[in-house]
Formats: sequence, structure tokens, C-alpha cells
Amino acid sequence: MINLPKPAFKGRMSLEEALHCRRTVRTFAPIPLRVDQLSQLLWATYGVTDPQWGVKTAPSAGALYPLDCYLAIGEGGVEGLAAGVYHYLPLLHTLETTTSGDRRREVARASLSQMWMAEAPIMAIITSEYKRTTGKYRERGIRYVHMEVGHAVENLFLQSVALGLGAGIVGAFDDKAMAEALALPSGHEPLLIVPIGHPLGHPR
Ligand SMILES: Cc1cc2nc3c(=O)[nH]c(=O)nc-3n(C[C@H](O)[C@H](O)[C@H](O)COP(=O)(O)O)c2cc1C
Repeated sequence: MINLPKPAFKGRMSLEEALHCRRTVRTFAPIPLRVDQLSQLLWATYGVTDPQWGVKTAPSAGALYPLDCYLAIGEGGVEGLAAGVYHYLPLLHTLETTTSGDRRREVARASLSQMWMAEAPIMAIITSEYKRTTGKYRERGIRYVHMEVGHAVENLFLQSVALGLGAGIVGAFDDKAMAEALALPSGHEPLLIVPIGHPLGHPR
């Protein structure tokens, strides 16, 4: 279990500036991220904002929180962390290792060979366990889950920009190949992949 540093609730860039600068980034410098940056990115995506109720940065239909955030960290992708696949535990604000080794090329290959993705030091993978939401909302729950992944990923996008990083977004992938590349638990279905790093040629 890896304890993450506490996230900051104030940053150096305004929300308006982050919105203005956000762009899909597809070229990354080979510069590792720091653990405090990783912590901030995960918290922004799906972190807990009220520990008493367990509610998060992203809204969720019925507060059922169907999403999970995994990370594929490359070799030397994050200072002090081994390459591997990690699972974010929002309530504890910790990471658990689920698979060791650099899986970025497998992830890129599963994404219809969008090999640019493998240059990012890390990739966030947002998965859904639909039954958490469809158990209450039936068929309509599917629609809710798809809205919610957009909320979480926009949080991640904007936080990346606010930290001087850049993020891409990939929805084009083979579901089965992606689940295999990341050794995802059954029932956790990948919805969006977000490669993140220092944008090449866009110093901020
Ligand atoms: C749901 C979704 C899936 C996407 N999938 C991909 C993808 O597989 N590969 C890619 O290079 N860009 C992908 N994009 C990024 C779009 O191409 C990009 O957002 C669009 O061109 C607008 O550019 P901007 O994000 O820089 O504003 C995706 C965007 C969304 C919202």
C-alpha cells in the first residue's frame, strides 16, 4: 500500500486559465512525475472531499460511485515508484499495486496501436463497475455511468493543466485487449484512458 501525500486545495493557476489552456496532448517529454503531482491528479479525478459522507470531487447519481481509477506507470514514470499497474483507493487516498511491470506499450497496442500513448510517463484508466449504478437505476444507470466518467476525466484534464502537465484522452480501444493488458478485475470495464506527462514543446 502506498500512502499518497495530502492534496492541496489551492493552486497557482485559476480555473479560467486551466479551461482556456486545456488541449488534448499527444507528445510528452521523458520527465518523471513526482508523487505529490500524482496524488493531486488522483484526488482531482475521484478523491474524497467530505470524509464523513465519502462524497467525491465528481458528482455521482445516487452517490453510488461506479468508477475506479487505475494507473499504468512506466519505468521511471514517477519518482520513487516501480513500473506497474496501480489501483487508487479514494477513501484512504492510497495506491495498491495490482500488476508489476511497464504495461504502457500493451495499453497503446490495445488502443488501436496509438503508440504515442506509450511515451507518457503515466496513464490513468477509468473503469466502471456498472452494477453499482444499474442495481438502483436499471437501464438508465448505464447513461449515468457514461456521464460520470466525463465528469471525472474533465477534473483530471483541468488538474493536469493547472499543474503544468498535459493530458490526452483515448476512447478508441479494444475492450477485451485493454482489460487483459492491465489485468483488470472482472466486472471493471475500461471506459477512458488518459495519458499524462509534461507536454513536449508546450512549456508552462
Ligand atoms: C470520448 C472521447 C474519446 C476520444 N478518443 C480519442 C482517441 O482515441 N485518440 C485520440 O487521439 N484522441 C481522442 N479524443 C480526443 C479528441 O480527438 C479531442 O478532444 C478533439 O480533437 C478536440 O481537441 P481538444 O481536446 O484538444 O480540444 C477523444 C475525446 C473524447 C471526448
